[in-house]
Amino acid sequence: MSPRVSVVTGGALGIGGAITRRLAADGDHVLLVDIDPEAAEATAHEVREDGGTVDVVVGDASDDSTVDAVRDAVDRLGRLAVLVNNVGDFRPASRTFLHSTPEQWQRLYEVNLRHVLQMTHALLPRMVEQGSGAIVNNSTVEAFRGIPGHAAYSAYNAGVSAFTRSLAVEVGRHGVRVNAIAPDLADTPQTSREAMLRGRDPGLVPLWIPMGHFGEVADYAAVVAFLASDEARFVTGHTIPVDGGTLAASGWYGRADGKGWTNMPDQP
Ligand SMILES: NC(=O)c1ccc[n+]([C@@H]2O[C@H](COP(=O)([O-])OP(=O)(O)OC[C@H]3O[C@@H](n4cnc5c(N)ncnc54)[C@H](O)[C@@H]3O)[C@@H](O)[C@H]2O)c1
Repeated sequence: MSPRVSVVTGGALGIGGAITRRLAADGDHVLLVDIDPEAAEATAHEVREDGGTVDVVVGDASDDSTVDAVRDAVDRLGRLAVLVNNVGDFRPASRTFLHSTPEQWQRLYEVNLRHVLQMTHALLPRMVEQGSGAIVNNSTVEAFRGIPGHAAYSAYNAGVSAFTRSLAVEVGRHGVRVNAIAPDLADTPQTSREAMLRGRDPGLVPLWIPMGHFGEVADYAAVVAFLASDEARFVTGHTIPVDGGTLAASGWYGRADGKGWTNMPDQP
């Protein structure tokens, strides 16, 4: 039987890299789409070394020319099982919303929401025609929890989750499922553990993250693999937080003395 074909945007590094490796290890032929040619080739090389199969499309996922190249590659392969719209970035960032500019909002829109619509619009017809397919988008916990300094980023990711819900309702009868994950605290190039801690005592991490540690990229890829699999055949329209419990805690922190939890930052 021919392998499933899965498209992964931003599939070279971070969470996307782990998704590429996981889907390939599970037997998919992965179409890795990434803006960084060296990183894309390095991940593709790693996948092939491990016995997997992968094709690379280099380009900005929010450029029409990249979307066209992905559609052409899918057309050549002749089928498409999974689309993972993973690209997203909190940058270009600004100190506050009032410091931000319309140019920043535009780029945040392109890199967080617009490419999800573009890529889906280009590839969904094939899934509808086949009568099957799974789309998994990458949102963020900040779509559900306020994050000062990143209002536009959070708004566009709330858009990703709303798009996920509404499209799922629209295409369910065509056998296409649409879900998302909402990560927090993944140790990736974009949000490395070191950058997140910024010199703070690592001993504070268990007071911050209910599970007590940062996420490994494979933790996020595992949930994407589930949502993309037939095991999730009756799951659609949802955004699953993959966050070690931070969204559930939502402002609660472990007390430094180990005696319970507090939502008052100046409380001993
Ligand atoms: N890291 C976290 O804790 C965290 C938290 C919340 C949400 N997320 C979301 O998870 C997703 C992945 O995050 P990450 O931390 O792994 O990111 P990352 O920046 O570490 O890696 C992103 C990958 O995408 C590629 N890329 C970036 N912009 C691109 C573009 N325009 N077109 C094509 N490829 C592009 C990069 O080259 C890289 O391979 C994003 O949508 C992000 O918003 C991550």
